Amino acid sequence: MRAHEAGWAHAAVSVRGPAWLRDPDDVNALVPRLWPATARKVDGALEIGGVALPDLVAQHGSPAYVLDEADFRARARAFRDAFGDYDVYYAGKAFLCTAVARWIAEEGLSLDVCSGGELAVAERAGVPMERVGFHGNNKTEAELARAIELGVGRIVVDSFHEIERLAELVSTGSTNGERTARVMVRVTAGVEAHTHEYIATAHEDQKFGFSIADGSAAEAVRQIHESPGLELLGLHSHIGSQIFDSAGFEVAARRVLALHAQISDEVGVVMPELDLGGGFGIAYTTQDDPSDPAQLATELTKIVTEECGARGLDVPRLSIEPGRAIVGPAMCTVYDVGTVKAVELDGGAVRTYVSVDGGMSDNIRTALYDADYSCTLANRSSDAPALLSRVVGKHCEAGDIVVMDEFLPGDVRPGDLLAVPATGAYCRSMASNYNHAVRPPVIAVADGVATVLVRRETLEDLLATDVG
Ligand code: LLP
Repeated sequence: MRAHEAGWAHAAVSVRGPAWLRDPDDVNALVPRLWPATARKVDGALEIGGVALPDLVAQHGSPAYVLDEADFRARARAFRDAFGDYDVYYAGKAFLCTAVARWIAEEGLSLDVCSGGELAVAERAGVPMERVGFHGNNKTEAELARAIELGVGRIVVDSFHEIERLAELVSTGSTNGERTARVMVRVTAGVEAHTHEYIATAHEDQKFGFSIADGSAAEAVRQIHESPGLELLGLHSHIGSQIFDSAGFEVAARRVLALHAQISDEVGVVMPELDLGGGFGIAYTTQDDPSDPAQLATELTKIVTEECGARGLDVPRLSIEPGRAIVGPAMCTVYDVGTVKAVELDGGAVRTYVSVDGGMSDNIRTALYDADYSCTLANRSSDAPALLSRVVGKHCEAGDIVVMDEFLPGDVRPGDLLAVPATGAYCRSMASNYNHAVRPPVIAVADGVATVLVRRETLEDLLATDVG
């Protein structure tokens, strides 16, 4: 590439980003709806919960997940208040640690866990067990026994083998003498929703739930009804994740309530509850326009009320299970920039690769789902022109991309800090030790104080399990 007096960034045609990505008016400015409520820039430095991220990194190192406690609690409360008559289960799979489980309980929500590990966190946090729901398509006998012993509020059953296993456990009393399990039946309504679209089909080719269409769901209900130790609470339907369009919920609710009515006619049981699942979308970039909890509550309630009215059913006690919509926007990841590289592409265009000190081990979503993210310079403001950049990690894999396309100041350089918003959901919880990376800490910020909730792993942690 030929040198240019204004620097390499100006020497060649710059690459174009996706159609939705607009040139920023001010590359230093935050797009408020992508960030936790307390985020702001002070003299160019990103501050969250009253803590300047350069100070946080100076003290705790990078990369780090930064969780805005006030924002997390406010989002949890917003769901609880908007869905007043519902039980709101926070889906811990999005992100769970002891403090977060405690916050959820303090804000009056319930907790959905999907493994013995998540159940152990709930127990340690002191979440009242009657407010815990237990999910999973292949819970082990030990996990089921533990859940019954602890007295979890509901176990969402997902297979005929599991019904058998549960019936056996409660009949033998091998669960510390506990002889009842409260259960819901996970059904597949033949609706699959992803981001902005949904697909409704007669059958679903996937591992979760009992199919309504082929009669398995009704059969599961019958079997539970005939098992003395199993108390049937109702049906459960989760149709997907990062959903923006309520049409998928509407089709699913219609099918699930048809089954609910059929059970009351044929089996003579009016199930007291119904769970509509989670999956409410959030804004990762400016292309996403999610609904707020109040809008969601209005839409879902209208769908269920109308459908029950049309079928002459009483509206069951309703519940939902948002994960991403509570924790996703409340957390961001801060990274240190290590290298910046201009790579010439076919046709002479140049792509700027900004390498940070994390990557696919702390955020696999870009590589796994082609997820889009945004980012901002977090330690200073810059007068340099905005330059389309690609933020990549430090792993030995070309697909190790954190942010596919975003504008950054053209003078971004080693030693700068970058912050990526909306990393609260499914980033720490799906983090790995790929390349023997140590997983970053989760640090809560509130009222000017930073508190480590999950500490950074150490090389000793990594070597401790390697007993050979
Ligand atoms: N309830 C059930 C039964 C679920 O399976 C899930 C998510 C949720 C609730 C919460 O969904 P949310 O509100 O968080 O969308 N790893 C993927 C997401 C997998 C979601 C699995 N189930 C990702 O990173 O996008």
